[in-house]
Amino acid sequence: MRFATAARPSTADMLVVRSVEDARREIAAARARGEEIALVPTMGALHAGHLSLVQTACEECDFVAVSIFVNPSQFGPNEDFDKYPRAFEADLQACRECGVNLVFAPDVSTIYPDTFSTFVELEGLSDVLEGRCRPGHFRGVATVVLKLLNIVQPDVSYFGRKDYQQQAIIRRMCRDLDMPGEIRTCDTVRELDGLALSSRNRYLSDDERIAALSLSKCLKLAKQRLTAGETDVELVRREMLALLNKTRGVAVDYATIADPDSLADITAPQLEMIALVAAKVGRARLIDNLPIHLPADR
Ligand code: PAF
Repeated sequence: MRFATAARPSTADMLVVRSVEDARREIAAARARGEEIALVPTMGALHAGHLSLVQTACEECDFVAVSIFVNPSQFGPNEDFDKYPRAFEADLQACRECGVNLVFAPDVSTIYPDTFSTFVELEGLSDVLEGRCRPGHFRGVATVVLKLLNIVQPDVSYFGRKDYQQQAIIRRMCRDLDMPGEIRTCDTVRELDGLALSSRNRYLSDDERIAALSLSKCLKLAKQRLTAGETDVELVRREMLALLNKTRGVAVDYATIADPDSLADITAPQLEMIALVAAKVGRARLIDNLPIHLPADR
């Protein structure tokens, strides 16, 4: 890992660009200065989870680009694209305060001009969990992320572990398509009571927020049971579901324990596992996950 050598820009110096040409020109100039380029792709409505990615990028790289683009192609027809939170001015201010160099905020027509007709599909990894619940979601994510990576051509790009399947898919896409650049995955940021930060948490009423804690609780339960030596993975899955189902206002999509690479459900404990959950709480569809590691010498 290289440590940032360029001084972070003063807040007044952050550039906000809307066109691919402007973004490429600024990034080419940074590259010509020998700076290491980072990209943090976001859909805006930045919370402390996003900002921890941005801060890490600012600590680790010389020139940090943040993209803000609510990507229509990753929302299904009955999902919350129109209502997805947008807070552009506050996002810019937060980026400035972190020392971001460039915000790339394209219009939909810049990313998807009328003639647009090329999409990225990943077989297998995209078909389970979120992919099964949200058909077409990962096709939209992979397509926009590939475009952003091609536009910015970062040395390093940053993704959050909260979207575990998303970062796994992006890693696979980059490997399959020989994309240069490193993907770094940063830990989930949680409230003190365990709720994973999400832009959709703002849809929750006070009661729904309490109900939403059942997601992180069921993941912790799975981790406790498996690290304490439980070998019946199916039983642990049933216990996760029971905890969620007894919580009023929670409609479960899935709660499972999977292999961290293939995301296939596992039938017996293994050294590395991932517990994953998705549920609707009020009008917010929330996801969360927790890596589980068993010591090799047990
Ligand atoms: O995680 C997100 O915010 C989005 O899925 C991403 C990676 C910015 C692509 O639109």
